[in-house]
Formats: sequence, C-alpha cells, structure tokens
Amino acid sequence: MCGIVGYIGSKEAYPILINGLKRLEYRGYDSAGIALLNGDINLYKTKGKVADLEAYVVGKNIKGTIGIGHTRWATHGEPNDVNAHPHFSESKNLAVIHNGIIENYDVIKEKLKNDGVHFRSNTDTEVLIQLIEYIYKHENVDLIKAIQLALGQVIGAYSIVILSKDNPNTIIAARKGSPLVVGIGKDEYFLASDASPIVEHTRDVVYINDEEIAIIRKGEELVLKTIKNQKKTPFIEKLEMDLNALEKEGYDHFMLKEIFEQPRSIRDSIRGRVNLKKDTITMSGIIDFEERFLNARRIIFTAAGTSWHAALVGEYIIEELVKIPVEVEYASEFRYRNPIIDDKDILIAISQSGETADTLAAMRLAKEKGALVYSICNVVGSTIARTSHAGSYTHAGPEIGVASTKAFTSQVTVIFLIALMLAQKKGKISNEKLRKLIIELEKIPSVVEEILQLNDQIKELARIFTYARNFLYLGRGYNFPVALEGALKLKEISYIHAEGYPAAEMKHGPIALIDKKMPVVVIAVDSLIYEKIVSNIQEIKARKGKVIAVVTKGDKTAAALADYVLEIPPTEEILSPLVSVIPLQLLSYHIAVMRDCEIDQPRNLAKSVTVE
Ligand code: F6R
Repeated sequence: MCGIVGYIGSKEAYPILINGLKRLEYRGYDSAGIALLNGDINLYKTKGKVADLEAYVVGKNIKGTIGIGHTRWATHGEPNDVNAHPHFSESKNLAVIHNGIIENYDVIKEKLKNDGVHFRSNTDTEVLIQLIEYIYKHENVDLIKAIQLALGQVIGAYSIVILSKDNPNTIIAARKGSPLVVGIGKDEYFLASDASPIVEHTRDVVYINDEEIAIIRKGEELVLKTIKNQKKTPFIEKLEMDLNALEKEGYDHFMLKEIFEQPRSIRDSIRGRVNLKKDTITMSGIIDFEERFLNARRIIFTAAGTSWHAALVGEYIIEELVKIPVEVEYASEFRYRNPIIDDKDILIAISQSGETADTLAAMRLAKEKGALVYSICNVVGSTIARTSHAGSYTHAGPEIGVASTKAFTSQVTVIFLIALMLAQKKGKISNEKLRKLIIELEKIPSVVEEILQLNDQIKELARIFTYARNFLYLGRGYNFPVALEGALKLKEISYIHAEGYPAAEMKHGPIALIDKKMPVVVIAVDSLIYEKIVSNIQEIKARKGKVIAVVTKGDKTAAALADYVLEIPPTEEILSPLVSVIPLQLLSYHIAVMRDCEIDQPRNLAKSVTVE
C-alpha cells in the first residue's frame, strides 16, 4: 500500500514523478504529494488523488531534477492534507516518503516531544524523519549514519526515500518489509514501489532487499549498504514488461480490460508448460524439489482475498488429482497461531502482487519450521517470489484494477498445471486422463472468449439489480470458491453487501434472508452434484428469491426454475471455476458502473496490502 517514486538525474523530475504516481495510484489514493530539491525543498501535497495534486501545483515552482512522490493509503492519521506525504523534518532540511508502518512510533514520538521536537502531523512517518534529524543533529554523525541509527530503533515495516537540503545531489532510500526498486538509467536513477513507473525509462533494475540502504548520487554508481553498514553489491536485473499492459487500451476501466484479457492471460499461464506430444507438464519451479513434493505429507495453501479463493479451488483440484491432503489458510490467521507444520509439509503461498504482508509473514513462519515454501505470484521479482524456495509465475501481466480478476483465473490455471504434473509423477492419473484434461485446459481460453460475448446481456441484467441492497452467491464443489469470489467482487467495487455460501449451507441460516427482494446468484453448471444445486434453487424459489443462474448451455432444469439465466459452454467440472467466474466478474463490474462507483480504485482499498 502507498506508492512511492523518486528521481535523480538531469531531467525535470516533476513530470517523471507525476507519471510514476499515476502508475502507482492503485496502491493507495487517499492523498498525494511530491517534494522537489532545488536549493530548498519545495513540498506540495493534498488530500485526494494524483489528479488533485496536479491541479494543486498549477502555478507553483515545480522545478528541480531531484524529487520524490507519494500516493497514500492511510494507516496512521486520517487522510488529509497534513498527513499526506512527503513529510518534512522540523527544520525542513529533510523530507521523506514512506510505505509501511512504524509500530513503535508513539514511544519515539513521546521521547522526541520531551526533547523539544515539534510535530505537524499525526503520522508514524513524521516520527521517523524527526528521529533521523534528531540523531543527525545531536550525535554528530553524517546523514547516512543517522538514518542507519534511526532505522535500528524502529520496529515495523518501511520503504523510505529521503531528500536532504544539505546533501543536494543525493537520494537515500531504505527498505524493510515493503518493496522498493531502483531503476538505473544513463546518469539517472529512478525509485519506485514496483517496476511499473520505471519500465518506460529503463529496463535495468535493482530490487532492494530488506534492511538495505541505497545511496544514490548524481553521476555516481549506486551504493548499497545494510543498516549495519555492510557493503553490498547491487544485482542488476532486466525488466521484461510490456508497456501497453500498463495502459487501458481503449477500455473504460482497467478492470474491464483485465476481464477481457483473460483468454490471453490464461493462455500465457499455460504457455511453455504443456507438451501434448509427450503428454507431460513441466513446472520448472517444482523440478528441483520434486522429491519433496512427491513425498509431502500435506500441502498448505496460504493467501488472502481473491488469491485465497484460488487456493480453495486448489484444495479441491489437488486432493482430487494428486491425492495429497490439502489445507487452506488465511495468511493473517496462520501467522498468529502456532500452526503444526514441519519439513514434511509444503506451504504454497499465492499472491498476485507478491507483496501481501500477511502472506509473506506466513511464509517466513513456515520456513522457520522447516517446510518447503513455494510461491505462485504474478509480479516478477516480488518479495514473495524471492522469499520462497521456488515458485511459478502466473504470467497474467500487470493487474492494475484493484479488484482482482485475471489474477484469479491465472492462479487456478497454474495450480491445475502443478496438480497435473504431480499427479502424473505420483502415478495417480492415467495418460489418457491427463491428455484429456490438457486438451480441455487448452480449450479454456476460447471458452472464456465465448463467455465474454455475454457482456451486453450481463449489462442488461446489471441494470435490473443496480439498486439491490444485498446479494447471495451460491455454489457447490469446485464452484463454492467461485461463489465467494463473485460476492467479494460485488462488495468491493459496488459497495453492495454480498455473501458467498456453499449452496447446501443456506438452509442452516442464510435462507432466513431470502424474500422477493433478494437476488441470489447460483452457479449451477454441469457437475456431479447438479441435482443437489437444482434442489437448492427450488428452496430459494419457494421463498420467492430472485435467482440468477449460471448454467451450462442447453440446461433445461435449473434454467426453467431461474428468473434470469446466463448460459456458458460446457467444460470439465474440475476446470469450471475458470469459466463460471467470468460472468460474475462482469456482473459486478456493470452493477458498479451503473452505481457510478470508482471501478479501478474502490474506496478504502489498495491493490497491494503491505501492512498487516
Ligand atoms: C480482491 C483483491 C484482494 C486481493 C488480496 C490479496 O479483488 O484484490 O482481496 O486478492 O489483497 O492480494 P495478493 O494476491 O496481491 O496477495
């Protein structure tokens, strides 16, 4: 959460920073600000979005070739002008931007206040920069040492970038727990929370590791040190990112673009991993740890939000195909209990962003306990990908809309491929069945293309339900997690209360909610338990609920009972979550558009949740 950018070079920094903030706005949009070093530090910040900041700086001095910028997702202190970043130290000689949380800020603040330091904001970030200045002034050390000493005192997570009036050709950055990337150009450097603001300037990047400080001076080589002052050698990596993927390309919203990209993103998740001539699947991340996977006592998936829903689909798929017991854990719960996990277990962390703090903490815990930690991530080079022993990328391309869509289908695709590979290696699947499933998987992108043609029909349906106050989503088996995902999509972007339930659980409580005003989305595609779902629809109709049924083309029974029907092509049941989720994504999108909601940046949310 929070996006940070920085620039040092010979170009004007402002346009680079503003464009960078636009790329990072998905990380938070409570307030935005920039600071430019040009003799003095000129600092401009405002509540609201990057566009508000642009309006705010009109007519102001935005000159300077060194600067930092921030877009905020508020943690400490309400989202207003004063709490917006950057923050000055008391003398205004230092300015900082920060992503993360300083947990012991109150103790430090009290101490600094007692020593006469005055504060302007309610943020933990200001405490950090005031502490740095305090040490710099009182301990007779240079700025880098002061930063090292201050960071040694703080507890929590941060990536910070600092400007200093006394060090006019320098930017200093540091990280612990929150991501930070340095882009290396020709006599210029770029800093950002992720590579998206950097890729249009340079493809050479260095991912800063935890507890490292980057000292970046104009015209000099990048210097990396640890907080304890050990020198490190920067490891330069090449970015592979398609710039078009960062644009809306004619769509009204990134979310819609990303929904429509799914035939391509699913194909990219499969590409290069399947060999139909030899009937084999190769997930390169598994190869080095094949024995551990094959002898695993248990697989534990951990994740949050939509990625957790993909994990739940994974539980069904892996137990069915590989016959290894699977558990699915919310990372935020797993990390704070004392889970029984050891070197016979495998923890698979799923994350689109690869930065989710709880997921990362769960991985670290599992590692400490000796488990093999595998990751399924979308963002290449992300912290979760780098923290795991091995992993598979989903290759879905950048997902910018805050509501996750194509990440889900790519995650399920990758889990499915992992399951097929393990099932084959463990001798749990015949070659014929494997071949059949691969063929069916390869058809999925064109099935999704077909489903996307329902867009206009779904738009009309959305019109009918724009003003619903509540929604229920029901599914069973492989489609129970899809019901959860459908409900999550609706609530996060349209602010309509929605609940996902296993259809048969309805009679244990939620059925009390059903009346003629309650829309109930039922995923009733062909499956072994289709008849049971039909009974559940009957139970809803008996109580006058309005049923929107997602059914397989040609369906007669569920379709006859439902008030509204969305027909999707047939697929293997095990693959059905990849297709049944698409109409639900579109339904929530259109309802949210009709309610005039902020589609790509829903209130209170941020794309990358780097705080717990
Ligand atoms: C929902 C959504 C969130 C994320 C969750 C995990 O649309 O975007 O629920 O799925 O914050 O994020 P990642 O996958 O980046 O770990």
